[in-house]
Amino acid sequence: MRREIAHGSLLREANIPPTSSLLDPIAPVLENRPLGADHFLLTLASPSIAAAARPGQFVMVRLPDRLDPLLARPMSLHEALPPEESLPGRIRILHKVVGKGTSLLASLAPGQSLHLLGPLGRPFEIPSPGGSDRALMVAGGVGIALFPFLVPALLAGGWKPILLFGARSAPDLVTRDAFSRHGVEVLTATEDGSHGTRGRVTALLEERLAGAGMIYACGPDPMLRAVSRLANAAAVPCQLSLESAMGCGFGVCLGCVVPVRRAEGQAYARICVEGPTFMATEVIWE
Ligand SMILES: Cc1cc2nc3c(=O)[nH]c(=O)nc-3n(C[C@H](O)[C@H](O)[C@H](O)COP(=O)(O)OP(=O)(O)OC[C@H]3O[C@@H](n4cnc5c(N)ncnc54)[C@H](O)[C@@H]3O)c2cc1C
Ligand code: FES
Repeated sequence: MRREIAHGSLLREANIPPTSSLLDPIAPVLENRPLGADHFLLTLASPSIAAAARPGQFVMVRLPDRLDPLLARPMSLHEALPPEESLPGRIRILHKVVGKGTSLLASLAPGQSLHLLGPLGRPFEIPSPGGSDRALMVAGGVGIALFPFLVPALLAGGWKPILLFGARSAPDLVTRDAFSRHGVEVLTATEDGSHGTRGRVTALLEERLAGAGMIYACGPDPMLRAVSRLANAAAVPCQLSLESAMGCGFGVCLGCVVPVRRAEGQAYARICVEGPTFMATEVIWE
């Protein structure tokens, strides 16, 4: 796929964020709370990113003073909190340990710091509700990470958000109680039947799809592909947050491209700059 890209034109279009939007390069760790065995909720002091970030954006994180892993890792913004009392503006990252980078993130403790680049990427769009004010948030596994930041924005925009959360097993359904506490209806599906409906989250989506005004989805590619198919068939607008391994995070390495539909035909888009949010109608699943 990489060979077919017009490298020259993409590089010319490379939209490297201006320095002023790459904020808080060093962020002190305030808390790193384990949520079950594999998930961690990391709170960082990052006043400028917390003030500038919008739901759906991400940061590239890297441990200072280390060459291994060499590349920074992309992480969605889970929450952005304003300053309060003695606390500065903070961001939260929810991450799952899958390899070397995320194992190192899990080992961080207050007193240490992270290198951050961000906020990066295209945020979710929150249009005014039309015929229906029901917004379905479809999360698969650690795809749940970006939804707590989206909820207040949806509520402020006049939407009624409902969370459809699917995972392999009950322990993977992290942070779901926080949604219920904020009055968001939560429906769960687990593949082993240990919580909620047995099966996939797309079964819950099929039940709730009729009459929805917008769908927001984040999770593994097979889930996003199935969500896109259902949403497009029902003509419900659907925004996806795509993932990919990333080299740079700001448009120059071309390590994160996906095929998309454009008015002029098939093209390639960089998940880090043109995404990570895309309309389900524009992504081409091969
Ligand atoms: C825009 C964006 C936002 C993200 N937000 C979050 C988040 O909020 N929380 C979170 O836990 N993760 C998130 N991810 C995924 C996260 O970046 C990867 O899990 C992480 O880079 C893995 O690093 P590692 O060094 O631990 O694993 P590696 O040693 O690099 O890889 C370990 C295993 O994970 C797989 N892997 C690596 N990257 C990805 C990926 N992007 N998607 C699926 N599998 C992958 C590899 O193929 C390998 O099997 C996001 C990714 C993107 C692109
Ligand atoms: S172009 Fe480098 S990660 Fe997207």
